[in-house]
Amino acid sequence: MELIKRRRSVRIFSGKEVSKEDILSIIEAGTWAPTGCNNQELKFLILDKKKEVEEILKFKPFFKGASAFVLVFCDMSLPMSKKMYIEYKYERHLPYIDTGLALQNMILHAKDRGIDSCVFNLSEYHFTRDGKKRNIFQKIINKIKTSLGSHTKMEGNFEYYLRNNLKIPNYLKIMCGVAFGYAKICPNVNKEIHGGKKVMRDKVENYIISKK
Ligand SMILES: Cc1cc2nc3c(=O)[nH]c(=O)nc-3n(C[C@H](O)[C@H](O)[C@H](O)COP(=O)(O)O)c2cc1C
Repeated sequence: MELIKRRRSVRIFSGKEVSKEDILSIIEAGTWAPTGCNNQELKFLILDKKKEVEEILKFKPFFKGASAFVLVFCDMSLPMSKKMYIEYKYERHLPYIDTGLALQNMILHAKDRGIDSCVFNLSEYHFTRDGKKRNIFQKIINKIKTSLGSHTKMEGNFEYYLRNNLKIPNYLKIMCGVAFGYAKICPNVNKEIHGGKKVMRDKVENYIISKK
């Protein structure tokens, strides 16, 4: 409980390097999370080279000083993935749950090793590859293109970078990302506000649904 409560989403990192051994151990923790039907469909991409980190920072500039990014993918080519996530559409939410479970293992194990993190989504919404913020018009266009699946053809987009520059095949569905590093500034849970809401959690009683 102490470890769970001590972990914070860190957005300003010190620049100190997280070792490859630590990153592999963190990913190993992710692989030991439960997966629906034991599909073990998650794959992990380590982006820790200076150039790779710089590329991600263009899309997520607030992670300055992070040492490595790990992206989580769902392998849609596995027989069970094809069956459950494509054929039986009612199971298609499972990889999202599996990703969440893996990520939580990873960020807690990282914190246990003194390493800070921040989970981030990989939407094409806010920034382009040149590090520029999209205006409202560009955001609308991008939303339409993303919903049509044609965003992967737009050079400024994150998925374009993954598919074309890093050659990540299409059968690996992008799920989520996580930044790792050592905090320069660790958010104060008593003061931090994110998404218009205090990061400090309410009393547990207030999360329980009362039965009539
Ligand atoms: C799926 C997911 C996506 C997130 N995406 C972002 C993000 O894009 N940028 C960011 O700064 N924080 C992101 N966060 C971190 C949340 O803002 C953070 O977990 C929340 O404010 C609670 O703070 P805590 O993690 O310190 O308890 C994300 C968290 C999750 C679980």
